[in-house]
Amino acid sequence: MNTESIVALNPSPGNSSLGAAQRRNEARRITAIASGKGGVGKTWLAITLSHALARAGQRVLLFDGDLGLANVDIQLGLMPEQDLGAVVASGADVGAAVTHVDSTGFDVIAGKSGSGALSSLTRQEVASLRQGVLDIAPRYDDVIVDIGAGIDTTQLVLASIGGTVLVVVTDEPTSLTDAYAFIKVANRLTPRPDMRVVVNMASSRTEGERTYGTLKRACESFLKFSPPLAGIIRRDAKVKDAIRYQTPFLTRHPNADAAADVEALAGQLAKATPA
Ligand SMILES: Nc1ncnc2c1ncn2[C@@H]1O[C@H](COP(=O)(O)OP(=O)(O)OP(=O)(O)O)[C@@H](O)[C@H]1O
Ligand SMILES: [Mg+2]
Repeated sequence: MNTESIVALNPSPGNSSLGAAQRRNEARRITAIASGKGGVGKTWLAITLSHALARAGQRVLLFDGDLGLANVDIQLGLMPEQDLGAVVASGADVGAAVTHVDSTGFDVIAGKSGSGALSSLTRQEVASLRQGVLDIAPRYDDVIVDIGAGIDTTQLVLASIGGTVLVVVTDEPTSLTDAYAFIKVANRLTPRPDMRVVVNMASSRTEGERTYGTLKRACESFLKFSPPLAGIIRRDAKVKDAIRYQTPFLTRHPNADAAADVEALAGQLAKATPA
């Protein structure tokens, strides 16, 4: 995909202030979660951040944008009546796939892992899914988009949905390299993106800051642009436990270190894009 085609899909990126959002009749905040590398905690963060925002009284929609390898339903232990693949296959609106999750208080558009209808979408089909999400976004205060691993057309089109892109990184060299690649490509293709970095699975806040510093220096040296730090989430064995039991993390371990970190991140987001 060339620069022009992404820009054409994204006529008004990067501006998420309430005034502008209201004028465009959008959700107050749209936050996409990306990483380049797989397995760094995007889906867990997308769910837990959605939960934290819902607990703070926000109306939240979580869109599983890992098309073809959807995981939100698995981590939450959901059996949605309408999954996105079925809705796309039937030609119905994206809104038909919205499921309310009583246990968390937020809405989800879940995919289905291995869905044939979602695994090989064209750029235009992904763009129309993205537009479908934007069409229902005004019903919500926050829309969170869990973007799959990679830096291909699908991830870039979904990341260009507007609002904020949180780039999740860990201290592994492969994660840092892939996050840098994602930032480089997304920054080139979307004018003035509001990208921020989340360090996940940090052994301490100091280590998290060190990881962020490494990424920041690479961005400054080679891109002359460096996304700010949005938050540090500590490595916490309770995360795996909650996923194993397919239970929302904030329900199962509300007092865990990682719970406090995600709640702080939710507060940071609210501060950075105030109502
Ligand atoms: N803060 C954390 N502390 C400890 N483990 C974590 C933390 N965050 C995520 N994990 C672990 O990382 C694993 C991967 O998480 P998750 O599936 O959310 O990653 P992902 O980036 O969405 O992966 P994919 O790219 O495959 O979609 C989880 O099984 C979980 O055990
Ligand atoms: Mg995932």
